[in-house]
Amino acid sequence: MLDRYVVIGNPIAHSKSPEIHACFAAQTRQAMSYGRMLAPLDGFAATVRDFIAQGGKGANVTVPFKLEAFALVTELTERARAAGAVNTLKFDGSAILGDNTDGVGLVTDITYNAEVAIKGRRVLLLGAGGAARGAILPLLQEQPDELVVANRTPAKAEVLVQQFAGTGNLRSCDFASLRGTFDIVINATSSSLADEVPPVAPGVFSVKALAYDMMYGKGPTAFMRFAAQHGAIVRDGLGMLVEQAAEAFHVWRDVRPATAPVFEKLRSQL
Ligand code: ATR
Repeated sequence: MLDRYVVIGNPIAHSKSPEIHACFAAQTRQAMSYGRMLAPLDGFAATVRDFIAQGGKGANVTVPFKLEAFALVTELTERARAAGAVNTLKFDGSAILGDNTDGVGLVTDITYNAEVAIKGRRVLLLGAGGAARGAILPLLQEQPDELVVANRTPAKAEVLVQQFAGTGNLRSCDFASLRGTFDIVINATSSSLADEVPPVAPGVFSVKALAYDMMYGKGPTAFMRFAAQHGAIVRDGLGMLVEQAAEAFHVWRDVRPATAPVFEKLRSQL
């Protein structure tokens, strides 16, 4: 019998996670299967419980269920608690462990794949929704010189900063008051879905800044095009997708897959 894993979402047909985990499993010779599971919008918890009853070992959780997954679990990792959302479930008897691997996926993609150190650098995080919140603790753990969270609705950025008070050098700002330059600028807003750029001044990018968009697509996002025009080195979120999956795989299987071949394969298919 293969150990069973799924990704649960609604919609789910577009998810690349089954392909990513199939590559990881083949590469590391793990006896496991990984499929897609569509949960009804009002039936996430029941879907998880059914899967556990069928012997499921773990799951990834995607839109729109990451907050419901947070509420469902019996144990939370520190990074999931900080994110306020769960993207990885591990089932162990009656226990349901909730983890969040999105933020560490982002940090691994920046520091390891893009080879850009965060330690001692000035980092600007754009957005204050779920994606931004999940990134804050893993970014602060890298000890940036400063982390500034800027959002269209500044009060939401300030709520996030209050939540992480005392964890590192962190402050909020509205877009219009942003001053100075940043070595790393991360777009955690959903602006790219509308092919829009968050209203940041072109002067935020330091010389050879890394401009990172958590979104990805066939070509560069609007934010990446804007950043490249102003001298930044740009990167999309495909590497973050693969790295968050690798971290979930490690949580479940205690093995670290190589991510570069999977990244290349997905890139060639976009
Ligand atoms: P996610 O889970 O992807 O973070 P979310 O919680 O809905 O999604 O948050 C979306 C984020 O993108 C918010 O920070 C939002 O700004 P507001 O808080 O002011 O709404 C931001 N956002 C969305 N579209 C944007 C745009 N065109 N320009 C700037 N910010 C945008």
